[in-house]
Amino acid sequence: MSEQLETMTPELKAFIDDWKNKPGNLIMVLHKVQQTYGYIPRNIAIEISEMLSVPLAKIYGVVTFYNFFKLQKAGKYIIQVCLGTACYLRGGDDIIKEFERKLGIGVNATTPDGMFSIEAVRCLGCCGLAPVAVVNGEVHGKLETKNVDSIIEKYRTLG
Ligand code: FES
Repeated sequence: MSEQLETMTPELKAFIDDWKNKPGNLIMVLHKVQQTYGYIPRNIAIEISEMLSVPLAKIYGVVTFYNFFKLQKAGKYIIQVCLGTACYLRGGDDIIKEFERKLGIGVNATTPDGMFSIEAVRCLGCCGLAPVAVVNGEVHGKLETKNVDSIIEKYRTLG
């Protein structure tokens, strides 16, 4: 997948200027970046490294340490597989592995065509339907690994 270049927004630039000399600024700025783009674009990470005089390696150290930071833009369809207790006990882990296997990506990654991302989430509030996955707000309950294919196909067909 070719790397996507994002443009630094005036709002983000002002935020960075504001935080430039304050302690804990890197994490605050990274939160703002993720809020702005939905992930941490590489070219923006490079700009931040220069603006805050922080080595790029340190930025990536922080980003990879906290799993709420994403390195890739989310897919058009975000598959959230529940790993809350009820879902986990009913095989949620197998469901997420099957999505990973079928799509050829891991959790928090996006397929090269930009169509799908996989996320592991905590209880979605519909434990009676465990194990559950939600795709862009649509609930798929009582899942078995054999259902994974048709779910992917459904959204692929929608385009
Ligand atoms: S544990 Fe999955 S919906 Fe509650």
